[in-house]
Amino acid sequence: MSDSKTYAPPSEFSSRAHVKSTEEYRALYERAKTNPEAFWGDLAATELTWFRPFLKTLDWDPPSAKWFPGGKINACYNCVDRHLRTERRTKPAIIWEGEPGDSRVLTYEDLYKLINRFATILMRLKSKTGERAVIYMPMIPELAIAVLTCARMGITHSVVFGGFSSEALKTRIQDLGASLVITADGGWRRGKEVRLKDAVDKALEECPSVRTVMVYKRTGSDVNMMTGRDYWWHEHEENLDSTPALKAIAESGEVQHLDPEHPLFVLYTSGTTGKPKGILHTTAGYLLQTAITMKWVFDLREDDIFWCTADIGWVTGHSYIVYGPLTAGATVVMYEGAPDYPAYDRFWQIVEKYRVTIFYTSPTAIRALVRQGDKWPNAHDLSSLRLLGSVGEPINPAAWDWYYRVIGKERCPIVDTWWQTETGAIMIAPMPGAMPLKPGSATLPLPGTIVDIVDTNGNVLGNNQEGFLVIREPWPSMARNVWGDPKRFQEQYWSRFPNSYFTGDAARRDDDGYYWILGRIDDVMNVSGHRLSTMEIESSLVHHPAVAEAAVVAKPHEITGQAVCAFVTLKQGDWNVEALGQELRQWVGREIGPFARPEEIRFTDALPKTRSGKIMRRLLRELVTSHGVTGDITTLEDMSVIQRLASQHQSDED
Ligand code: PRX
Repeated sequence: MSDSKTYAPPSEFSSRAHVKSTEEYRALYERAKTNPEAFWGDLAATELTWFRPFLKTLDWDPPSAKWFPGGKINACYNCVDRHLRTERRTKPAIIWEGEPGDSRVLTYEDLYKLINRFATILMRLKSKTGERAVIYMPMIPELAIAVLTCARMGITHSVVFGGFSSEALKTRIQDLGASLVITADGGWRRGKEVRLKDAVDKALEECPSVRTVMVYKRTGSDVNMMTGRDYWWHEHEENLDSTPALKAIAESGEVQHLDPEHPLFVLYTSGTTGKPKGILHTTAGYLLQTAITMKWVFDLREDDIFWCTADIGWVTGHSYIVYGPLTAGATVVMYEGAPDYPAYDRFWQIVEKYRVTIFYTSPTAIRALVRQGDKWPNAHDLSSLRLLGSVGEPINPAAWDWYYRVIGKERCPIVDTWWQTETGAIMIAPMPGAMPLKPGSATLPLPGTIVDIVDTNGNVLGNNQEGFLVIREPWPSMARNVWGDPKRFQEQYWSRFPNSYFTGDAARRDDDGYYWILGRIDDVMNVSGHRLSTMEIESSLVHHPAVAEAAVVAKPHEITGQAVCAFVTLKQGDWNVEALGQELRQWVGREIGPFARPEEIRFTDALPKTRSGKIMRRLLRELVTSHGVTGDITTLEDMSVIQRLASQHQSDED
């Protein structure tokens, strides 16, 4: 990893940027560090619109944070209503491109009307503040409308990515005790229909808390509708149009005045155990930090067309398709389909079509497109682009270089943004007009982000030493809890190092103070920028009747960064291992979601274990990353196991 090559911001870019120089960045950073309450308090007062002003900035009793107590606020009002009083009323809020090529443009005013209509419909079906809604939809504007309508009504939403299985959907609905599910008949993915409503029906066989299912018609295929539980969105829209009393409610624009700590959403993410955690985010602090990072990191200007290619089912989509950009009054592009369908230039075609100015994607997507060659982007006019972003995993120098040269034509800075579901907003990233870039480094912490690198005992490490990345001070968009499990929140994030947030990432800081994220140090994998838990996949595999034991490790992968490799021992029986390998991959796909399918399954007669019976995943990791096993294996119970696995690996390669 080279720290040496730097790219200074183009002077044209700096001169117009929100933050124009390293000195300006340092001044902001110092002000936030010395007086965080004044810093965040001033920003909250100016960047957000309050129904009632807050009384103070923060009540901090680690790990419990209450930001902006005493105020009253609404996230949807900040994302939509307040813009109607300005020229943004007729500005496009969402430019949507469907996979089959259909498209729609919704102005801020359109969005306002659609949200109020949907709120009236939900109200009529007796949904109200304090309840939980699970949203399981394709990437269509109604997904954003559903999210914002929940926020308007004070219903805590949990978006479940449409690629998750009905099993994963079920456990999330149950964990939340959700009363409402908002879904669609299906969505499009690479020309095929993903049948969402069928998955909902299956999940709901075991979810007694759900009273209402609202279904949007997207694909028009046949679905089962249960009387008294399932309702078509369009039928309720029609009913609203023909009922003056309902129309009047929709036009009144009623909005809940909520506590700044009102639970805005829960997003499930993988942790170190088999059970995903419901990360809870609340209202005002989350909104503030997602909006301010639009200016700091994406240098948002009024005429920008901002495209974040993530799915709203992940935190990136929550923060940088919905809440951040809309609070900041931006125009966002939203796309339903895949980057490579119908051809490898789909992204570049959309950039050209809508004159996208800021483009934010994952290293996995970039690597997959690099492989297809320059002819795809070169066939399009990409001159509208002025800033590029990367998120989700470390970006390797070769991918960075291609992104910079072939997509950005050496004109556009690249913001490599480090953050997590738990941090809510970007924490370490360049302010692109202010600081030189180093490919592969997320550069410097943003103002208000106070980080350290520490060793296992919590000692602070100096430059050029690898250690654990911790965050020392509370920040407005920090996760507030694990839904229903405060003990897990405390233990997972706040116990390892006293009064500090433990990120789970290893990092190193160089002599310029730049941060280099080295990856997870726990049992969490990063496949295509998706967070997967080794334990979750292992427990899915051992559910299968043929499997005795399973150990899952990440192996390096050229495109997806990491890939899932599972070592499996079988129960007694006459198994056809070839067929079984396929079956187990499908099994995991069904239990968790297709993106969690192991790329490789290796059958073995034993797993390497310590004398106390713990599986030595470290050895398996070494086995899939290198050709030999190094380090201490003296605690290994049966040395021959690892030799057998190693020789099997060798013969597979031959
Ligand atoms: O390991 C880090 C990696 O992704 C993890 C967070 O995953 P998730 O909660 O799914 O959120 C992803 C999108 C924000 C982190 O612990 N990660 C995220 N961004 C970067 C990164 N690793 C290196 N560089 C990044 N820019």
